Amino acid sequence: MTTLPEDTTPDRRASGGTESSPLPTTRIGALTVPRIGLGCMGMTMAYGRRDPEQGVATIRHALDRGVSLLDTADMYANGRNEKLVGRAIARRREDAVLATKAGILTVPGIGLPRGLSGRPEHIRARAERSLKNLGTDHIDLYYLHRVDPKVPIEESVGAMAQLVERGLVREIGLSEASAADLRRAHATHPIAALETEWSILTRDIEADALPVARELGVTVVPYSPISRGMLSGDAAAMRPGLLDFRRVLPRWSPKNREHNAGLVERIREIAEAHDATPAQIAIAWVLARGEDVVPIPGTSRPLRIDENLGALDVRLGAEDLAVLDALRAAGARYGRTGGV
Ligand SMILES: NC(=O)c1ccc[n+]([C@@H]2O[C@H](COP(=O)([O-])OP(=O)(O)OC[C@H]3O[C@@H](n4cnc5c(N)ncnc54)[C@H](OP(=O)(O)O)[C@@H]3O)[C@@H](O)[C@H]2O)c1
Repeated sequence: MTTLPEDTTPDRRASGGTESSPLPTTRIGALTVPRIGLGCMGMTMAYGRRDPEQGVATIRHALDRGVSLLDTADMYANGRNEKLVGRAIARRREDAVLATKAGILTVPGIGLPRGLSGRPEHIRARAERSLKNLGTDHIDLYYLHRVDPKVPIEESVGAMAQLVERGLVREIGLSEASAADLRRAHATHPIAALETEWSILTRDIEADALPVARELGVTVVPYSPISRGMLSGDAAAMRPGLLDFRRVLPRWSPKNREHNAGLVERIREIAEAHDATPAQIAIAWVLARGEDVVPIPGTSRPLRIDENLGALDVRLGAEDLAVLDALRAAGARYGRTGGV
């Protein structure tokens, strides 16, 4: 059992099972995973400074609670995120299902994205580096972070398939791929997971890749299920500080923020009726999309693991879903320069 550092305690924390009762699970290819994973990106980048020790404690608490699926990427803080995950799981590798990614190039030192590479030699080199960073001899789930339009997807996935043959990777996934790319990739090697942004406010997947994922038996892993914290109703999430990536996202612009804060109030009303928190409602909405959906809410605070697992206990009714489905964000999910 991890000793929890001081933390903010949410008013309501539904249990989401207890430490002794196992979490509900589903499959990603041959992997068994809990219905909720943990996004680790924010522990080292994106949403302002975080204490790395708190990140380690959060991961260990997640593992204690059965949240085995840990999501990272080679480009998060130029490999420092993978190293943090590796440190947290040292001596308990068997408790973790490690998911990492390659394919986004970064500016050395700074870590900002500067382009894509789906070239086979790049993927091979990055896999070796990720294994070292994570301190493991295999990656459970290896994603192509973005499809590189300059490289046929068959070549990128072909390189990943070779990693499977060498025993370095268990399952292959794609991130943010279109329906057409998913089909082409799957014809090269079975694709176990599609990671893509999906939340009450970001629904793009529903019209394009989702039907194909379901046809092919690909598990969907929604990232940013709380819309990068916005749907939690946490006032701090609406006022990003200087080092916070959300400052440049259209949904946080002064023009759009007020409208979006109003949506959160609708979610808060539903949360109060369920004796739940807005973050739990946001995650429960994603869970309600189907058994083949495994959201990976990100947090760097141990107690929020417990809060977010409480979403498993929330049963949204048809009326709740109708209200939530009708909410529309002001502003695109990314600005002109894109992002992660
Ligand atoms: N494949 C891709 O291209 C891609 C892109 C983006 C993200 N991802 C992955 O998806 C994961 C999750 O997405 P995300 O982190 O962008 O967004 P998210 O899960 O929607 O939200 C994370 C934010 O919400 C806050 N938060 C979490 N639980 C909360 C709660 N119960 N109450 C209040 N605030 C809460 C976190 O702050 P604290 O840390 O302070 O708790 C953090 O700022 C990432 O960690 C990353 O692994 C992948």
